[in-house]
Amino acid sequence: MESDFLIIGSGIAGLSCALKCAELGSVVVVTKKRDIDTATNLAQGGVAVVLEEGDSVESHVGDTLSSGAGLCDEAIVRMVVENGPDRIAELVEMGVGFVKDEKSSSGYSLGKEGGHSHRRVVHAYDLTGREIERALLDNVRKHSRIELVEEQIAVDLLMVDGTLPGWTAGGGQRCVGAYVMAEENIVACRAKVTILCSGGVGKVYLYTSNPDIATGDGMAMAFRAGAELSNMEFVQFHPTCLHHSQEKNFLISEAVRGEGGILKDADAIPFMEKYDKRKDLATRDTVARAIDKELKESGADCVYLDITHRSKAFLKERFPTIYNRCLSRGIDISQEPIPVVPAAHYMCGGVKTDSNGCTSLPGLIALGETASTGLHGGNRLASNSLLEAVVFADNAARFCKKWWLEIKKSETPDVDEWHSGDAMDLQEEILINHNWDAIRRVMWNYVGIVRSVKRLDLAKVRMEAIFKEIDQHYHDYHITPNMVELRNIALISLIIIQSAQKRKESRGLHYLVDYPQMNKEIEQTVFKRKKGGRKWEIEMVKREQ
Ligand code: SIN
Repeated sequence: MESDFLIIGSGIAGLSCALKCAELGSVVVVTKKRDIDTATNLAQGGVAVVLEEGDSVESHVGDTLSSGAGLCDEAIVRMVVENGPDRIAELVEMGVGFVKDEKSSSGYSLGKEGGHSHRRVVHAYDLTGREIERALLDNVRKHSRIELVEEQIAVDLLMVDGTLPGWTAGGGQRCVGAYVMAEENIVACRAKVTILCSGGVGKVYLYTSNPDIATGDGMAMAFRAGAELSNMEFVQFHPTCLHHSQEKNFLISEAVRGEGGILKDADAIPFMEKYDKRKDLATRDTVARAIDKELKESGADCVYLDITHRSKAFLKERFPTIYNRCLSRGIDISQEPIPVVPAAHYMCGGVKTDSNGCTSLPGLIALGETASTGLHGGNRLASNSLLEAVVFADNAARFCKKWWLEIKKSETPDVDEWHSGDAMDLQEEILINHNWDAIRRVMWNYVGIVRSVKRLDLAKVRMEAIFKEIDQHYHDYHITPNMVELRNIALISLIIIQSAQKRKESRGLHYLVDYPQMNKEIEQTVFKRKKGGRKWEIEMVKREQ
């Protein structure tokens, strides 16, 4: 397969970038499951954007910086916030139906979420992601220059010697596509520019709000190819996922607290005022940690989110998905509080990029949750992620346009076919399943909301042993999609652990009981593979301003 652009992932970042890159050349979008199996499709809250009179860029920038705990890149934050209104207008143009409100000066109904000082979240009730995904897919499916390929998992990036116009960084190699598994064959998909938009890493943890696709594939592939990963210790736990034995990953949107929902303990006592003056609308790191503390102290299985003071009619209209899903589990949210627990939700770190989404490897761009752009710092502000995805997709397309004549002229050399060598078929699937479970339990128990040096050390020893075993299977047996994902979550887990070990302080989402204070000397953690080998190293660098 050969195209000008190879985009891996079909969420908001991948699809919106595909539509813009298609103005330059041919685009192949590869996704490992169905096109709608994305985190975007599950997003409930919405897109944070300054549209309303009385709100301001300064205020949104200030809220983002304060949530990010000193690790955001202020220039990036400003650029993203300033670009927000134009990107929202484009989404509307493409057919996204955000809910309108004639009484509001923006014309839109605006939600409020934790850490925001204004109502500024445009939404499609609690189905915002699904509405965006629908509209983008409608446009992509009818575009003659975009081919959307489902059920094919990218395995590794194709790297050759050389560089590419436009990229300043680079260690002698550039990316020219990816090996992709189509049924049992692994084929080289060559491209001038490869764009990783494969989402986050939630499946590294036992409990997550993420869809099953979130196995850190883009980050793992980029790392193996030699790209820098940054701030991987900052895993955001969403405070409120539905606690029910039949539910795997159902989120109760932060917008419910924005409309007055109150967190209470099993005795119906509100507890957030003990932790933050913003109470239930404090930032996510604070709320998730408060719930964790309440649960550990009380020994209870969950806390409760009470929105019963709002009318049934309001709840049914504003939160139709949450209302109906809870009702299907026997919980009428207008009559009783919702049992909730925190769960892994968003990776604030990722593949380090510049303001155009360019990684440290020429030819490779990373967007959306896969990227670490400098926007989120140590704790992402609610509803800033869909915004980041569309702004950086636009910047990346503009960057490609600027350099297109030269990029297009660059040769895409032949690459080696995939060789399985003496690999055999794996007969015992238990070898895979056991390790999936082991990794996710180790990460949940030892590398969760509250961490300690001892638990991180234990996690590293265990994860290294598991990683070694998986890596051996990977080389001994014919690979399967399950094996590819397992190898990726093992690698990403190890990187999260080692990044967390390096950060000897507490800041944003990383809380280390042995070091409860912030250490101003430590800024970003940047992690990259040792050149040429299968080993890697971590280095701490100062933030580049
Ligand atoms: C939510 O609806 O609570 C999730 C929004 C987000 O992750 O920003």
